[in-house]
Amino acid sequence: MRAVIRGEGGRFVYIVSALAALNGLLFGFDTGIISGAILFIDTAFELTPLVEGIVVSGAMVGAAAGAAVGGQISDRIGRKRFILLSAVVFFLGSFLMAVAPTVEVLVAGRMIDGIAIGFASIVGPLYISEIAPPSVRGGLTSLNQLMVTVGILSSYFVNYAFSGSGSWRIMLGAGMVPAVVLAVGMLRMPESPRWLYERGRTDEARAVLRRTRDGDIESELSEIEATVEAQSGNGVRDLLSPWMRPALVVGLGLAIFQQITGINAVMYYAPTILESTAFGSSQSILASVFIGTVNVAMTVVAILLVDRVGRRPLLLVGTGGMIGSLTVAGLVFQFADPTGGLGWLATLTLVSFVAFFAIGLGPVFWLLISEIYPLAVRGSAMGIVTVANWLANLAVALSFPVLLDGIGTPATFWLFGVCSVVALLFTYRTVPETKGRTLEAIEADLRSATGGAADVPGDD
Ligand code: BGC
Repeated sequence: MRAVIRGEGGRFVYIVSALAALNGLLFGFDTGIISGAILFIDTAFELTPLVEGIVVSGAMVGAAAGAAVGGQISDRIGRKRFILLSAVVFFLGSFLMAVAPTVEVLVAGRMIDGIAIGFASIVGPLYISEIAPPSVRGGLTSLNQLMVTVGILSSYFVNYAFSGSGSWRIMLGAGMVPAVVLAVGMLRMPESPRWLYERGRTDEARAVLRRTRDGDIESELSEIEATVEAQSGNGVRDLLSPWMRPALVVGLGLAIFQQITGINAVMYYAPTILESTAFGSSQSILASVFIGTVNVAMTVVAILLVDRVGRRPLLLVGTGGMIGSLTVAGLVFQFADPTGGLGWLATLTLVSFVAFFAIGLGPVFWLLISEIYPLAVRGSAMGIVTVANWLANLAVALSFPVLLDGIGTPATFWLFGVCSVVALLFTYRTVPETKGRTLEAIEADLRSATGGAADVPGDD
């Protein structure tokens, strides 16, 4: 990333990306905060188990709904305005939850918050990938995932800080602060140059590229131009054309594998899993803070590597490591003695699982889906894939306690392990390398591989 922050334009794109990555922070914070808040909401409103489930998972349902419409909205109104819209929706959702006089209002707030999470999960990576220069696009776009992990970790701290007083309204309302920072900051940020070009606003696109690049912008501009000219004008119908299929398969596959390999079983339930190992509840919370910290640290490692070693190696090594960690985790829970150091051993296997997720499937999934779709339908395609990601997330969150109860902890980990093996084979066979290439060259490849006509000057 050093090369890009040398000059004016380089520094600016770095600031723009960091600010847009607040979308990731909100996504992480708002998904993580409920685990602590729910304990107190339960008491305050005397929730039935069903309503408790709705309050917790309502955000994921909202996120799937948000993702379903968000991609198209971002293609229509532009990335910048869509980020502003997400920030407003985040604020509204958090505000409603913080002041909720009744459980109905609370659920409404949680759903609205979920819609914003769905919006943010698309537009953070989308906007950054379209504004970043190709040489550092992987690292900058993955800043969004870094902020997801920072958001999750800070939610653990906020939960911890307010758990003494039981102030669930403050926990849930805290999300209003980054939402305001995001909205105010974004007002001064530029629109995506690619979206502008696509809308025929060539001069503005050129001006944005000039502000965000140090060197020559003409070759990048002519690639964008060639891509826009090659578009069929069919818009969303393009999504169903045969040449789009491989990219949709890659995106949908990775979306589902990112979840069914079990990351959120650990992120949402680590304290529950660890409490079964003779760990007390405070030790379990401490261990989950440790897991959250490793998640952040390894995402930084991924950011440093992704534009050097590429997307595929990180995915393959990351998923391979997840398989190893899950296998050992299953063995530990199967054979280790609960009274003899099982807690720390189990924590270590979970830490290693999360570490490998954080250098592979965590950031690389979001990065790839912001790179492999054609400009004309990028938002919509990301929307479809992101809906699949949220639905798979919901499925794991709902089924994990049932699995633990039904087949036990070791078999549950091995099941995630089997899913990871399939994920590894899938990645090996289908995922393209996009490192260092312009989004336009990636699109040209996709079209020519499957017969969609386009001749865009490549950069490789
Ligand atoms: C996933 C989330 C997960 C988070 C953990 C994200 O990439 O989409 O479901 O909770 O990573 O860091």
